Amino acid sequence: MEKIVSLAKRRGIIFQSSEVYGGLNGAWDYGPVGVELKRNVKDAWWRSVVRDRDDMVGLDAAILMHPRVWEASGHVEGFTDPLVDCRFCKGRFRADHLEDTPCPKKPSKMVGKHDECDLTESRKFNLMFKTFVGPVEETAAQVYLRPETAQGIFVNFKNVVDTGRVKIPFGMAQIGKSFRNEITPKQFTFRVREFEQMEIEFFVRPGEDVKWYEYWRNARLQWYLDLGIRKENLRLRDHAADELAHYARGCADVEYKFPWGWSELEGIANRTDYDLKRHSEFSGKDLSYFDPETKERYVPYVIEPSAGADRGTLAFLVDAYDEDSAPDEKGNLETRVVLRLHPKLAPVKAAVFPLLRKDGQPEKAHAVHDQLRKRWNVDYDQAGSIGKRYRRYDEVGTPLCLTIDHQTMQDDTVTVRDRDTMKQERVSCGRLTEYVAGRMGE
Ligand code: GAP
Repeated sequence: MEKIVSLAKRRGIIFQSSEVYGGLNGAWDYGPVGVELKRNVKDAWWRSVVRDRDDMVGLDAAILMHPRVWEASGHVEGFTDPLVDCRFCKGRFRADHLEDTPCPKKPSKMVGKHDECDLTESRKFNLMFKTFVGPVEETAAQVYLRPETAQGIFVNFKNVVDTGRVKIPFGMAQIGKSFRNEITPKQFTFRVREFEQMEIEFFVRPGEDVKWYEYWRNARLQWYLDLGIRKENLRLRDHAADELAHYARGCADVEYKFPWGWSELEGIANRTDYDLKRHSEFSGKDLSYFDPETKERYVPYVIEPSAGADRGTLAFLVDAYDEDSAPDEKGNLETRVVLRLHPKLAPVKAAVFPLLRKDGQPEKAHAVHDQLRKRWNVDYDQAGSIGKRYRRYDEVGTPLCLTIDHQTMQDDTVTVRDRDTMKQERVSCGRLTEYVAGRMGE
């Protein structure tokens, strides 16, 4: 993990939030390369669950919602973690995470060493961030930053059905920020206080829920595999009966084998008709559905695949990280850091280099760059030796490097160098767009 965190900083993938002020715990910023990577993760998700399907629509609901939403959803009452205070070190810890949070006062900062600490009884701590709407900070004006995007979908169910363009079974998908005041943010961007979720609520006829639950369990696992996560690092873990929320009829987590162990990337749950019924009850609005095929009225069941964009991005980053060896300028082997990202996720698809800064090569390289950037995120780079430029782009997972050299000026071909095999071939400029598209799997 240390290598990845340092690569992330060095290459502009992920920075600590407000770093010049000493940082803010539980918040991270995506730099110039990271923003492209995360955007590609979100775009791949959106394409696969919205654009490529006939039974899904998108949504972008507000982060601030009516406070009653969170009463209906159960978050005001139940969205809590057990918290303990230490009278000795004044630290606050999650009672169920004591083994992996160090006591800050112990000289060794040894993980899990709370045995001599003077811990209070555990009490419930609500994870929702509170704020106020309008100029008066009074209880009546209190709202929450949403702790999940899901409720924005439930409260828009009727709006979307009333547009008349959807029929059950159908789903609504949303990507957006969520906020949780985690007691112990940890493991880089894995557990943070501000993060992005990619959530689906898929509405089905009661009785068809088990079939659709199975469908989404498999579909969501496959999505990660299709984008290159290694099979041995990914698994589906079904929740045991005592792990299930009281309303859930089934839940499975997609887990990734991070350097610290198996951890959740996404949960897929059969939430029954719990959410729509609760919102009906609390809002007094009928949220049932009239099925034009069967002429029945019912409250739909819902299958919820709920993923974290930051966790997914981190898993793709960790899985892609590799070190091998490559010859340096003098032909000596040196360690090469390479991100073997799927081309769809690669932040920069190709980099164009003039071999020399003369003989018309920069002009030609600019022309090639201008041609390719119309379609992809492509860089132009003329700084340093070709070897250095290759390393720079290997480190951010750029699949192709295109070099304009003496021969280009004679026969209008460029050298294309492959990130993974480091093999080179010549491709004519006239075919470049088609060639790159092929290599991107488009
Ligand atoms: N609507 C259901 C829901 O929000 P969840 O399991 O609490 O379920 C879903 O969250 C996903 O959101 C998780 O699988 C994870 O990827 C992401 N997530 C949740 N809390 C997070 C945190 N503190 N930091 C980063 N990602 C988080």
